Amino acid sequence: MLYELIVIGGGPAGYLAAERAGQSGLTVLLAEKRTLGGVCLNEGCIPTKTLLYSAKISDNARFGEKYGVKAADVTLDHEAVIKRKNKVVRNLVAGVKAKMRKNNVTVVTGEAYIAGRNPKGAYEVRVGDAVYRGRRLLIATGSVPVLPPLPGVQEGLKSGFVMTNREILDLMEVPADLVVVGGGVIGLEMASYYQSAGSNVTVIELLDHIAGNTDPEIAQILLKNYQKKGIRFLLSTKVTAIEDKAVVCESGGETLRVEADKVLMSIGRRAATEGLGLENIGVELERGRIKTDSRCQTNVPGVYAAGDVNGISMLAHTAYRESETAVNNMLGKKDIMRYHAIPSVIYTNPEVAGVGETEQTAAEKGIEFEVKKLPMMYSGRYMAENEGGDGICKILVDKEHKRLIGVHMIGNYSSEIIYGAALMIEMEMRVDDVKELVFPHPTVSEIIRETIFEF
Ligand code: NAI
Repeated sequence: MLYELIVIGGGPAGYLAAERAGQSGLTVLLAEKRTLGGVCLNEGCIPTKTLLYSAKISDNARFGEKYGVKAADVTLDHEAVIKRKNKVVRNLVAGVKAKMRKNNVTVVTGEAYIAGRNPKGAYEVRVGDAVYRGRRLLIATGSVPVLPPLPGVQEGLKSGFVMTNREILDLMEVPADLVVVGGGVIGLEMASYYQSAGSNVTVIELLDHIAGNTDPEIAQILLKNYQKKGIRFLLSTKVTAIEDKAVVCESGGETLRVEADKVLMSIGRRAATEGLGLENIGVELERGRIKTDSRCQTNVPGVYAAGDVNGISMLAHTAYRESETAVNNMLGKKDIMRYHAIPSVIYTNPEVAGVGETEQTAAEKGIEFEVKKLPMMYSGRYMAENEGGDGICKILVDKEHKRLIGVHMIGNYSSEIIYGAALMIEMEMRVDDVKELVFPHPTVSEIIRETIFEF
């Protein structure tokens, strides 16, 4: 049989593409080597949020006194948290499977290898002993953790002392001393959970700041909040080796040895393109990532790539949109990917969320802009629910048209509010347009309305 589409990889990009293509009547085969749902569902977004929610309940109970709530002997049962996480993941994976069935997608389990093209032009994909033929391919193989080539890392991974995002989400015991290498999104979310669960957490970060490209002022507020909670940060510090029960690092010419029971490596992820057979059909790569155009098509006609594998914006929600863009183009519908209004969230406590330009990126692009910011305490709901909270909301507007170009916030519910800001940027709304919107009261989202009236 000749499939109209073969999807390689069953994460957010792959399963959504398969679902959309199936809905549109294409015959689809999806190959997944592990579990449907990919990193997001099995060892990323969803399990992390399940853990962080338990931590939030526990923290609220433990520190409830400032709200007049006294709870004695609050404990976080880590094993129960992991078991619940597994249940949530199982249910969601079952949901994805059901969607595949409903849309007549044939799912095969195994590692796919692109063997080449047959004389009729069909792509041949090998999974185990079987060979499948497809008119089109969508490569959605995602990404893998970057592991530094340092002494002790591979040995540590083998012994279980060193973990990636995969292993840490299945840890049945809370380590007394946890060292997190890399103060980016994964590092901060995991540091947050394990600190609440009782670990002594040290985050080692190469740069002089945490949270990557987050607005520096917001990253600084997050750092202060985390230091206050008791997380230790070693900034501008380079890890040089992993030893037995310790991480060796260098800072300002000094060598430090940080004791650890477990180490999480979270220094970034890279596109998963190796061993796929991309060279057999001539797919072009750029620094290890699959190069795609605005239609998510590679240099090879009929071969598309979506999600982390193109390395553009390694986020599940970007993957969803890219997969839809790819499928729409396969169906002959006009659709192009736009990346300027993709929100990003760090699900720490407090949450951090942003969309569009930061002051840095706007300046780098030579955009003339105005920026206004307000403490989140200007929102009555935030004040009611965040005793002593120091969140802020920052809005950037381009000087020429007074259009919103960036919104950045720290404070809880930011993760749920930011899509509204993304919409405003996507729809090219001007300050005066936003001033005419009615926000529900009392909500934390009103901080956007308050800040807009500063212009
Ligand atoms: P990341 O790129 O966010 O952060 C890695 C951090 O490690 C950076 O701050 C970097 O400076 C630091 N680093 C690099 N080499 C180092 C070294 N040798 N020693 C110490 N520090 C070092 O990468 P992360 O946290 O691994 O996340 C990977 C991907 O997963 C990201 O692309 C992210 O978009 C995605 N993700 C998204 C989440 C979200 O949207 N909430 C949650 C978790 C992951």
